[in-house]
Amino acid sequence: MNRPTITPRKPPLGFQDVPKHWFAGEAVPSHIANGVNLLFPHGERFFVRSVYHFLDRIEDPELRAAVKGFGNQEGRHARAHEDYFDTLRSHGYEIDRFLKVYAWISSRTEKLSSPKLRLATTAAAEHFTAIMAEGAATEMPFDLVHPAMRELLLWHAAEELEHKSVAFDVLQRVDPSYRLRIAGLAMSTAMLSVWWAAATLMLLRQDGIGPLDALRRLRAMRTAAQAAGVKTPAPLGKRVFARGIREYLKRDFHPDKNDNYHLAGELLARAESARKEAGRPSGAVA
Ligand SMILES: [Fe+2]
Ligand SMILES: [Fe+2]
Repeated sequence: MNRPTITPRKPPLGFQDVPKHWFAGEAVPSHIANGVNLLFPHGERFFVRSVYHFLDRIEDPELRAAVKGFGNQEGRHARAHEDYFDTLRSHGYEIDRFLKVYAWISSRTEKLSSPKLRLATTAAAEHFTAIMAEGAATEMPFDLVHPAMRELLLWHAAEELEHKSVAFDVLQRVDPSYRLRIAGLAMSTAMLSVWWAAATLMLLRQDGIGPLDALRRLRAMRTAAQAAGVKTPAPLGKRVFARGIREYLKRDFHPDKNDNYHLAGELLARAESARKEAGRPSGAVA
């Protein structure tokens, strides 16, 4: 399966109308999504640095162009998610202390890691984001999401699918060793799961919700949705992490073996509908 042309699109702008609890009107799903939102800008800039470090070693013109498209897309994602941070601040959430600690520890970890490990970490992280992007197309109840956030997340998901194999292909050219790939998987799993949980708990705490209360609320939402016959996505640990690790451990893994590039077009069409519903000017879906 061939990688599609990677097309960086204008990001959605303006999140001032997004309410505090924009996902199903509930604090817990909103903050789980906010939690990963907080990680994106710093994380995505790290991905770009990690892959660009090896650009000189890539001779294949298609892959070079894909790397540049990937960098351009990730840069725009980082800026768009940062834009949304102002909305969180305007709702009274203290996020800057967390962002400072997250950036400091991640930067230290980056400096202590070899360029190859950084690339392997990025390739594995891109597998997790591709799974999340596929989930956005196939199982997430986006009709419960505020249209401005729905546009942001669907646009981001579409581009994550388009560039899902770029970092992996660069890693294969630079060093195809299985051990390095798995070291990157371990690093990526640890960083993403720990920071995502920390960000989510930090936001929930500011709403007066502790971890056990959050789990109880999630279970109640799931039970109510199932009783109403509404399809609910599998828990995050199973849907993203367990699946991602299981797939990535296969020796013959390649992102393109999962034939889902066609979902990018569907995601963009849904992002366009969300843009109209949000009353935003044309931009994200150019
Ligand atoms: Fe991204
Ligand atoms: Fe990505």
